[in-house]
Amino acid sequence: MKSIASAPGKIILFGEHFVVHGTKAILAAIDKRVTVTSSFTENKTIRVNSKLGTLDVPISSSYKEVKNEFRPFVYLANKMIDSNQNANGLEITIDSDIPIGVGLGSSSACCVAAAGSIFGLFKEWSSEEILKISIEAEKTIFPDTSGADCTVCTYGGMIEYPSIEKIGNTFDLNLLIVNSMIPHNTKNSVEKVNKFKENNEERFSQLCDLETKLIDEVITAMKNNDTTTFGLKISENQKYLEEIQVSNETINGMISSLKEISLGTKITGAGDGGCVIALIKDEDMDKVPALLPKDKEYFSAKIDTKGVVWKIEK
Ligand code: MEV
Repeated sequence: MKSIASAPGKIILFGEHFVVHGTKAILAAIDKRVTVTSSFTENKTIRVNSKLGTLDVPISSSYKEVKNEFRPFVYLANKMIDSNQNANGLEITIDSDIPIGVGLGSSSACCVAAAGSIFGLFKEWSSEEILKISIEAEKTIFPDTSGADCTVCTYGGMIEYPSIEKIGNTFDLNLLIVNSMIPHNTKNSVEKVNKFKENNEERFSQLCDLETKLIDEVITAMKNNDTTTFGLKISENQKYLEEIQVSNETINGMISSLKEISLGTKITGAGDGGCVIALIKDEDMDKVPALLPKDKEYFSAKIDTKGVVWKIEK
């Protein structure tokens, strides 16, 4: 028997970093997915197969004893094996089309899909349960997570976190995702922002208020089909991210390359590399290749509405 679950990656349209400190954020799931397949074995081991390598450890191992990238899987496997005495061992295989470490939710989608797949071997589950457990799994590598990424990967669509209700986007957003090809480490970027906050308490609190106001204005702009204001808010949000020092020269260069055709461009996710999103009018899409440096990858973001899905194969 195989339990197969898949979950989408994500983009953050507004509010990354500030969301860790309690503000709202607008996120959307995208049509790139991670699929996790789990099955029982007789080996008394937890085996994880992924593009990052293979792990094979005794079922008694703690997640703390394995490399960071394998921790969520061992955590989830332990959790189920410990409470089910007839489970001898597990094999977990990860297939992903989400680029790793560039802010598109590869790690949270892995945690959500792995929770769905591993739990699905033992029982039926609810999305609420999978969300809770996937956040616990993500915390094994990134203890300060806001939980926003796992939430959108679980429920899909576009949400105004912490709400899970889907925003019906009234206009067709033509969002371009451009990958700087510089991998980042979310935990380090979040720690850097914590330091900024410690040294600039008053300004950071003002920025959180500004972000909250900005998100309210974005929601109104969406209701009014006002693409121009939506684009301007993207650029305004980028200024806040620059102020908390998560942008860099490469990102700023990509933003200015797209300036003549973009209604607004910003980092999506932790920054310090990773990806930017740009709001581009349909008629200007064919100008993109000539404007961007040749080493950058780009694609149009399509919003995923399904979130986590799961099936059993006998
Ligand atoms: C990372 O995708 C988003 C951050 O806001 C961290 C988080 O929300 O946990 C930087």
